[in-house]
Amino acid sequence: MGTFLEVAKKRRSVRSYKPDSIPDEILSEFLEAFRWAPSGANSQPWEVVVTKNKATINAIADIFIEQYERQKLKDPDFPGNRKEYLKEVPVVVVVCGDPRLKDAYPKALGDRRRNAIYLFSVGAAIENLLLSAAEQGLGTVWITPEEEDEVKLKKLLSIPEALEVWACIPVGYPKATPGSRQRRPLDEFVHWDSFDAEKLRSNLQIREFIATGRAKLMYGPGRNKPSHSDDGGDKN
Ligand SMILES: Cc1cc2nc3c(=O)[nH]c(=O)nc-3n(C[C@H](O)[C@H](O)[C@H](O)COP(=O)(O)O)c2cc1C
Repeated sequence: MGTFLEVAKKRRSVRSYKPDSIPDEILSEFLEAFRWAPSGANSQPWEVVVTKNKATINAIADIFIEQYERQKLKDPDFPGNRKEYLKEVPVVVVVCGDPRLKDAYPKALGDRRRNAIYLFSVGAAIENLLLSAAEQGLGTVWITPEEEDEVKLKKLLSIPEALEVWACIPVGYPKATPGSRQRRPLDEFVHWDSFDAEKLRSNLQIREFIATGRAKLMYGPGRNKPSHSDDGGDKN
C-alpha cells in the first residue's frame, strides 16, 4: 500500500463495511502487528478476544447501539453515531488490558504514571493493529466501551473479572474510503528548542475547537454540527 507515512495518512476510522470475510493469513498479520507493539518493561499487558461469530458480533453491536442511545441522552452535543454498521463486519477484536502488569513498572514512578504506562502500552498495540489492517486495505475503528458496556462485554465473551476491556475494533473491507480528516498543522503544535508560549491555545480557543470543530474533525468536512444519524456522518 505504500510507505509507512502513506499508510499512516490513509488509515481512517471506517464506519461502513462490506460483509466480505477476511482471509486467515491477513487476520494473523494484523494480530502479529499488535503483538510486536512496544510496552512498558515489555509487560505486554493485553489479551484479545477475536470473533467472527455472527451472533456474537450482533450482540456486540447491540451493546454499542445501546451505548449510543445513552450517550445521546446524557450528552446531546456529542456528535456520536449509532453503530448499526457493526452488524455488517466480518471480525471484531475486543482488546483487554491486564492491570496486574502495572506492578512491572518502577514503583518510583507513582500510580498515575504507572497507570499511564499500562494504558499507553495497550494503546500502542491497538495502533499497530489499525495500521497493519490499513496496510492490507482493511478498515477499522477504535471504539471505546463505557463501564456499563464493559460489564456486558465481559459477560458475553466470558472475560475474567481481573481484566479491563478498553476497546472494540471492527475489522472489515470498507464500503467506501472515508475522505480525509483534518489534522492540526505541524507548526501549530511543534515547538523547536523550547515551548513557544504564543502557540498555547487559550481556554476559549479550546472551548471553540470542541464546540464548533469537533464533529467536522471527527467525521470529515461533510459534518459540522452534531447529528445522530446512523451513518456516523461518513461520506461513504
Ligand atoms: C482512544 C480513542 C478512542 C476512540 N473512541 C471512539 C469511539 O468510542 N467511537 C468512535 O466512533 N470512534 C472512536 N475513536 C475514533 C476517533 O473518532 C477518530 O480516530 C478521529 O475522529 C479521527 O478520525 P480518523 O481515525 O478517521 O483519522 C477513538 C479513537 C481513539 C484514538
